[in-house]
Amino acid sequence: MTREELIEEAFKAMENSYAPYSNYHVGSALLTKDQQIFWGVNIENASFGATNCAERSAIFAAYSKGYHKEDIEAIAIVSDGDRIAAPCGICRQVLSELLERDTPIYLSNRKEELDITIAKLLPYHFSKEDVLR
Ligand code: THU
Repeated sequence: MTREELIEEAFKAMENSYAPYSNYHVGSALLTKDQQIFWGVNIENASFGATNCAERSAIFAAYSKGYHKEDIEAIAIVSDGDRIAAPCGICRQVLSELLERDTPIYLSNRKEELDITIAKLLPYHFSKEDVLR
């Protein structure tokens, strides 16, 4: 699967976004090295803090099937916003633990695209090694 195809998968996932409060729709598609695709969307809640972001939904779905960071090829995160949806702080922390530092992250809103890594998004990260000393 190409980078463009993975981005299109994320846009398809975005149609399932549940965002009645923000009306801001985000989709994610995660590709494993054995070519499985996991979709994730943002899922909001009347208790706003219970909201889950799209990229966390996708990576949790992959882990739930037994895939771990070393099995992940790439992840696409797309939105219908005016700017690309750069992952929020909580998602950066989650991605920093559950993705390899150099796994490609493709961001797109159809007007703008950015290929980045979690190493660049969260250079000074708090990690398992800090806790398990
Ligand atoms: N959101 C994501 O799904 N991913 C991001 O990286 C940024 C924010 C969602 C959460 C919420 O449903 C909506 O976007 C507005 O914050």
